Amino acid sequence: MKKTYVWSTVLSVLLCGPALSAEVDSIIEKCNDCHGDQGASLWNDVPTIAGIDAYVHSEALYIYRDKGRPCVKSKYRQGDTSRSETSMCEIAAKLSDDMIESLAGRYAALPFVPARQDFDAALAAAGKLVHDRDCARCHSDGGANPDDEASILAGQWMAYLRNTFAEYAAGKREQPDKMQVKMDSLSNKDVEALLHYYASQQ
Ligand code: HEC
Ligand code: HEC
Repeated sequence: MKKTYVWSTVLSVLLCGPALSAEVDSIIEKCNDCHGDQGASLWNDVPTIAGIDAYVHSEALYIYRDKGRPCVKSKYRQGDTSRSETSMCEIAAKLSDDMIESLAGRYAALPFVPARQDFDAALAAAGKLVHDRDCARCHSDGGANPDDEASILAGQWMAYLRNTFAEYAAGKREQPDKMQVKMDSLSNKDVEALLHYYASQQ
């Protein structure tokens, strides 16, 4: 029994180990055709996924697999751009739990690269005040700390975050109860200021 177990472990490391990792590599290449090389997006409606905590990343993929977030259609941004449009829900539907955990771990180990984007300095300053008042408790270091397990806001693309705020406001994406209280109390001006504050962190 024991011997068989040891052998099957050795075999699975020898056979499945490299096979899984080759499969992970080939899937990551496809992810990066939208999310950018090393998960650092060059497109403002596609989030940078490098550096996001592995737990948060894997949860996001499970939620897409359950169609718990809007299944927005997107075209491929690089590589073979003639591939037909797809959505995160369709992509996640094809991923096993093991694959989701592997992908999330691989991206978590990469450095988050803040997007180079325009912002309004006065709005950013106003946004910092709103952030410190309502959001900093869970999103520390201006929203830059992956260890909060609350994703990364600082330096994320403004257009992506704008869509995200709209999805939260419309009840199309679940959020922690205590975050919802804060989000629901924001004025449109507060939201705009927050977007510029996150964009200002480069
Ligand atoms: C065809 C383009 C495309 C491909 C391929 C793609 N994504 Fe995405 N992904 C997007 C877009 C666009 C969004 C943002 C819109 C949305 O919420 O659906 C997104 C959102 C995400 C998010 C949510 C980020 C957050 O901060 O909540 C994660 C995580 C993610 N993708 C991971 C992956 C992984 C891992 C792969 C490969 C298995 C992948 N994506 C493949 C386009 C793509
Ligand atoms: C009680 C803790 C808590 C508070 C307060 C909170 N958040 Fe969050 N937030 C989280 C967690 C946890 C996540 C990640 C899980 C998820 O996606 O639902 C998150 C995710 C997000 C995301 C999604 C990021 C992405 O990558 O798609 C945005 C945007 C966001 N928060 C903005 C805010 C803003 C703005 C405030 C203040 C008005 C705020 N949060 C207050 C806990 C909090």
